[in-house]
Amino acid sequence: MGPVIDELAEKKGKGMEKVETKDKTRKIEVAPRMVPPGEGRPKIKAQGVCAWFGAKQALHDVSLAIHEKEVTAIIGPSGCGKSTLIRCFNRMHETVPASRFSGDIVLDGENIFGPKIDPVAVRRRVGMVFQKPTPFPTLSIYDNVAVGLRLNGMRDKKRLDQAVEKSLRKAALWEEVRDSLLKAGGALSGGQQQRLCIARALAVDLEVLLMDEPCSALDPISTTKIEELIHELRQNYTIIIVTHNMQQAARVSQRTAFMLNGKLIEYDATDKMFTNPENKLTEDYITGRFG
Ligand SMILES: Nc1ncnc2c1ncn2[C@@H]1O[C@H](COP(=O)(O)OP(=O)(O)OP(=O)(O)O)[C@@H](O)[C@H]1O
Ligand SMILES: [Mg+2]
Repeated sequence: MGPVIDELAEKKGKGMEKVETKDKTRKIEVAPRMVPPGEGRPKIKAQGVCAWFGAKQALHDVSLAIHEKEVTAIIGPSGCGKSTLIRCFNRMHETVPASRFSGDIVLDGENIFGPKIDPVAVRRRVGMVFQKPTPFPTLSIYDNVAVGLRLNGMRDKKRLDQAVEKSLRKAALWEEVRDSLLKAGGALSGGQQQRLCIARALAVDLEVLLMDEPCSALDPISTTKIEELIHELRQNYTIIIVTHNMQQAARVSQRTAFMLNGKLIEYDATDKMFTNPENKLTEDYITGRFG
């Protein structure tokens, strides 16, 4: 077995590490780095995105690629278009009366505005959690998670039970609610409600999770829990987080986009953005000189 592993290590070059032991040298596999910035496959490509509310233009020619299984933070002062941009990614912008949109948004190589595309199916793949947690307050914790599954036609009680547990576990809420699944979703704390909303999004065929200031209504402990959860979810999902908290953007994301007045000013690896931004406006914003 030894030589095979050695040979594989030669071939792969990465992901293997030499370990010296007393009597022999062997190579062991280490976890490969999760898609480092610059190497991830584009999951969403926005090209020339413009958006309006009535006569007011909220986005001007925004183009960027969101990379798979990375966390992308979107920062910028209030009113610069962060929410509008992510609401275009799951076709929610068009639900606002008198809104307009132009440009292209491509999800896994397919335009989400294509004639055969069902916006509801897009929203299942690209789910959203909001600043204020939005569980169905009178539905039970169980039903909050099961609702999307039932809409998808899942009826079997045992399969539903399993799927609900799996989603609650993924959202790091299971241990706290396993004995009170029939309690109303609205009776949970704010931080628990936010994780319940994440569990609800995860229960369907989610691929991309849009988070619009998911921690701004939460206490520091709940915030830490959500940030830890984001780290875990990144193994399997693509995450976009809008935040006003620069430390949070730096902590959770691999890439950061800075917006101003509806325009994308700079988009780069997070460590670069926060240590050596190209644009003076980015620097002024992240150092707190405006916004
Ligand atoms: N439903 C709406 N109707 C009309 N104008 C809107 C609507 N929603 C947003 N806008 C306008 O579009 C622009 C962008 O708003 P958006 O909500 O995307 O900003 P934001 O960056 O998310 O701000 P914040 O940090 O305050 O959440 C703003 O000028 C805002 O007033
Ligand atoms: Mg917003």
